[in-house]
Amino acid sequence: MYMSIQEPLSPAHKYYLDGYYTHKFSEKNSSKINELIQEIMVGNIRKGFSLVSKYPETADLRPFAADYDEEILDFLIKTGAYDILRKLTGQDLYLYHVQLRITSPSSNLNEKESYMDWHRDSYYKGGKRIGFFPPVHKIMFYPDFEKKEDALRLIPGSQKADLHADQTYQNLLNNFDKQLIQNLEEKRIPYSNDQVVIFNAAALHAAGVNQEFNRARLIYSFLTKDQLETVEEQHKNLSKTFYNKVT
Ligand SMILES: [Fe+2]
Repeated sequence: MYMSIQEPLSPAHKYYLDGYYTHKFSEKNSSKINELIQEIMVGNIRKGFSLVSKYPETADLRPFAADYDEEILDFLIKTGAYDILRKLTGQDLYLYHVQLRITSPSSNLNEKESYMDWHRDSYYKGGKRIGFFPPVHKIMFYPDFEKKEDALRLIPGSQKADLHADQTYQNLLNNFDKQLIQNLEEKRIPYSNDQVVIFNAAALHAAGVNQEFNRARLIYSFLTKDQLETVEEQHKNLSKTFYNKVT
């Protein structure tokens, strides 16, 4: 016999089941990082950095967003986001990668699909593992400089589901998965200056469709310690820099 759940679920239980968590903080914690991001968005970019397109009509801060300003890493600490991530997962996770990406309405693939439609970062395809396993956990900050709109869409619980949808999987199964997804309830996370969303990157997720404005997001990716052993030197260095900040 299974025990039925009698008590309210803790955030860690919910994170395990739903695959995401929104962490709230005081808006004043994002004022400094938002100043930086807005400067970058208007093209006022510090020497040695530039915006490079990773996907059509998108712009990523290069070479490494984490080196742009100390605030990029400090933000994770002062908002309590990293602490919460560790509590939610019960794991010692290491910062692997930081990306600052700007999109615009012209980044969308079409009216219904953003530059990054439904996908999961870790999954199996044709017996091959794609992405890190166990999956990456991400902390995303979607600053809000305009009116509210959806930044991230996510299907709660899908990190446990055997669906393989991703935008590169061009065959019938993908279309079938896409049809299945349409019948599942999705969670929509808005652009907001007082929260980050933490999620298990094996969950099915998609970027919101940019309606009118240029939009930015900060993407922080975390790995377990053993996964770091095989990554490139710059990722190892980033994990050390961040580890030294939090200990
Ligand atoms: Fe993703």
